[in-house]
Amino acid sequence: MTPHRLFDFSQLNARERYKLLIGTVVPRPIAWVTTLSPEGRVNAAPYSFFNCLSADPPILALGVENHDDMSFKDTAHNIRMTEEFTVNIVDFANVEAMNICAVPFPPEVDELEMAGLHAIPGEKVRCPRIAEAPVALECRRHLTLELGRSREIILGLVLAVHIREDIVDAERFYVDQQGLDAVGRMGGHGYASTRDYFDMPSLSVEQWRKMR
Ligand SMILES: Cc1cc2nc3c(=O)[nH]c(=O)nc-3n(C[C@H](O)[C@H](O)[C@H](O)COP(=O)(O)O)c2cc1C
Repeated sequence: MTPHRLFDFSQLNARERYKLLIGTVVPRPIAWVTTLSPEGRVNAAPYSFFNCLSADPPILALGVENHDDMSFKDTAHNIRMTEEFTVNIVDFANVEAMNICAVPFPPEVDELEMAGLHAIPGEKVRCPRIAEAPVALECRRHLTLELGRSREIILGLVLAVHIREDIVDAERFYVDQQGLDAVGRMGGHGYASTRDYFDMPSLSVEQWRKMR
């Protein structure tokens, strides 16, 4: 067996730790977050320090880093001020548009307009969702965890989800994974599609015994 190399995090700087974490905890789902500024301007940006952490209560988590001068990114600022955000899911058809939303535009720029996308008003929140995204989860800020000086984890309570009609069986609450065509973030500038999706049901002890 190939031996493993140990990296002691106490001996590494923040950049080195970051590179090892984003290169190993993969693929990460991408939250394409839409918010409204207190003045009512639309903002959109991708965040891959992101996951669904609980279904009951339904909680999503976003990890947001401050800018180098410690000022808040627009997403963090808007959530702090309005207490609302929407997580749009990124599919393969929208990866380039999502990447345009990561350009460090000043707060007055509407990233959706820059990316040629369309905003639809929220149902349970005031901030809009992205019309082109296959899924949008409307959230109310639940809790913000301050991690040191430069990062925060924002927990959002999911109030409602919009799912494109062709990929959801509304009777069985089943989402067609191939139709969703979600994209994940890998290390560096890498991304992964979910087109090599496969099924593997969980096993009971009895089923596991029969397999041996
Ligand atoms: C795929 C992808 C994932 C990203 N994930 C994060 C993240 O988890 N945390 C973060 O602070 N920035 C992340 N970024 C960078 C932000 O999207 C970028 O700083 C953006 O300009 C922030 O926009 P805002 O100021 O409108 O919120 C990511 C960028 C990309 C392209």
